[in-house]
Amino acid sequence: MDFMRTRSGRLYNPKLLDAYDGGGAPNDLNSASEVDVRSFAEESETAFRLCWSRCRDRPHTGSGHRIPLATVTKQPALESSYADGQHASAQINVYERGEKIMDFSGKVAVVTGGANGIGRAVSLGFAHRGARVVVVDRDAEAGAAVAAEIGSAAIFHQADVTQSGDVLGYVEAALNAFGAIDCFHNNAGIEGRVAPTAEYDEAVFDAVMAVNVKGAFLGLRHVLPVMIRQQRGAVVNTASIAGLVGTAGMPAYVASKHAVIGMTKVAAGEVGPLGIRVNAICPGPITTRMVQDIAKQVSPNNPEGVEERYAALIPLRRYGTAEEVANLVLFLCSDLASNITGAQYVVDGGRTAAPVGVSQGSLR
Ligand SMILES: NC(=O)c1ccc[n+]([C@@H]2O[C@H](COP(=O)([O-])OP(=O)(O)OC[C@H]3O[C@@H](n4cnc5c(N)ncnc54)[C@H](O)[C@@H]3O)[C@@H](O)[C@H]2O)c1
Repeated sequence: MDFMRTRSGRLYNPKLLDAYDGGGAPNDLNSASEVDVRSFAEESETAFRLCWSRCRDRPHTGSGHRIPLATVTKQPALESSYADGQHASAQINVYERGEKIMDFSGKVAVVTGGANGIGRAVSLGFAHRGARVVVVDRDAEAGAAVAAEIGSAAIFHQADVTQSGDVLGYVEAALNAFGAIDCFHNNAGIEGRVAPTAEYDEAVFDAVMAVNVKGAFLGLRHVLPVMIRQQRGAVVNTASIAGLVGTAGMPAYVASKHAVIGMTKVAAGEVGPLGIRVNAICPGPITTRMVQDIAKQVSPNNPEGVEERYAALIPLRRYGTAEEVANLVLFLCSDLASNITGAQYVVDGGRTAAPVGVSQGSLR
């Protein structure tokens, strides 16, 4: 840790001051000892708890928790503000608050496509951390099974996300059952067919756009009014790395996921002033039914070979799991992400950042 001590005896973190003040460090610094740093952390904890108890009426962060002033205001003079309890280091706050913030007790989460794959993992993840969960899917059998696995803290609501009546239906079901929607994972999606653009079937194109774009739009269209009334909420739209880069043979899917990222940015700008956050996630290949289907389309005789070849192009050399995506969704719905909105987060083992080059092909 890069802490320094001023001559007056106060500890000082130059990086923190840089972040708030654009530099301007005091000129009377000496290096701090390990003991100093430890006592700084202890004092900060006390200061944070004091600050937390004073901030009950501060603005919401989006999923129901309130922000201590120390984390939202500029801190021009760390030394003087420390004395009145405003000096909880932003860095330390994040970790001190971490456990509580990832606790979704008292929150209601709605997850579309919640019956299988990524949505199922997210539904279970929310429930595991105390949320009440509305599992939404057109697959009644698998959706009911997820709700049953969670127990009384969940309901299943069958809906086709392409139908506005069905979307209004799941919103109403959530409000009737649990009275609010704090977190919304707008996730249902389909892959369509694998075929070049010059041969792509028009009806399949329409079907993919209907689920992935119109379904996501209708979710925003009918959930955001609830969050606006509540003056709180966090939305995560499932896009894909196909929303960032093209993939030959998937024109509809790629177009639809680019659209999801666009809608995310628009909605984030609209509801941000109310403290409601809207983000997108961009998974790479994740081991669910969807990638298995794509592999069968690409190579009907050897679908396993597709994973082997594709995984070799990923820096982490493997597909991700639904639980790894769920961790990102929960983070973005939590107050740990209180300053994150309009963003797209990649969870792809490094695929888009650093696809494995020809010279690395044998480094497995
Ligand atoms: N698996 C991947 O590699 C991957 C990568 C990037 C993005 N994604 C995206 O993640 C999301 C979830 O996909 P998954 O991998 O879990 O696939 P999945 O097929 O396992 O799950 C998708 C779920 O959505 C539901 N669904 C589909 N159409 C629906 C509709 N019209 N109405 C209601 N529910 C509907 C399905 O019944 C299913 O339960 C999708 O948006 C997908 O595009 C997946």
